[in-house]
Amino acid sequence: MRKKIVAGNWKMNLDFQQGISLFSEIVNMAKDEVLGQQQVVVCSPFIHLHGIAQLAKGVSRVAIGAQNIYFEEKGAYTGEISAVQVKSAGAEYVILGHSERRAYFNESDDMLSKKVDAALKHGLIPVFCIGETREEREADRYFDVIGGQLEQGVFHLSNEAFSNVVLAYEPVWAIGTGLTASPEQAQEVHAFIRDKAAEQYNQDTADQLTILYGGSCNPQNAPELFAQPDIDGGLIGGASLKSRDFIDIAKVFN
Ligand code: G3H
Repeated sequence: MRKKIVAGNWKMNLDFQQGISLFSEIVNMAKDEVLGQQQVVVCSPFIHLHGIAQLAKGVSRVAIGAQNIYFEEKGAYTGEISAVQVKSAGAEYVILGHSERRAYFNESDDMLSKKVDAALKHGLIPVFCIGETREEREADRYFDVIGGQLEQGVFHLSNEAFSNVVLAYEPVWAIGTGLTASPEQAQEVHAFIRDKAAEQYNQDTADQLTILYGGSCNPQNAPELFAQPDIDGGLIGGASLKSRDFIDIAKVFN
């Protein structure tokens, strides 16, 4: 059975103490309430990584992730952070290709493919995000857009390297808008992504691939979304800032 993951993306929220408090609540609830094989991942701002990693020690169902890295290992890149650095602070995952980074920080497919390489080289699991804008959906171009993002961002990887990647389908029109993709809309794209992975690699690799859904996911809509055959969990923004909601979403897999 492929891995189920519920990952929180705190984005640029919470000061240091608020992050530590929220994470403590999440860990305590997860210990008592998350009962299946699902993995809970919290992708925090960099300032929290080391502190929350200490709190997560010995809690096997909770892991930590970063929200970005630069592709170089070290050097004169003021303000950037490397895979080695976030790993040394306790991160096991890193979100790459989020639409906010593509849109506001001009991250190109070429840059993203280098970031994916850097993450894998240093043992971080990339949560690689793909998804279409509202205009692209309305123009019925979403399969082309998503296919292109896969080809340019991750399909250069060997089969072995690709097996360590998690994908997240996040329709841009559903992020932070309260507009969730319907379970049918999400399933259609997730099945398409799995088919593309089978074409590029093989059926076994595609069957093992974890594909998360992201975009206004909450405790109310998660059960129906996660019941779809090709949806293996969620990448949760707003609802991951409330411990109760986040854990309730994770508990869908209990
Ligand atoms: O990374 C998370 C996504 O951008 C979803 O955010 O749950 O606030 O819509 P959201």
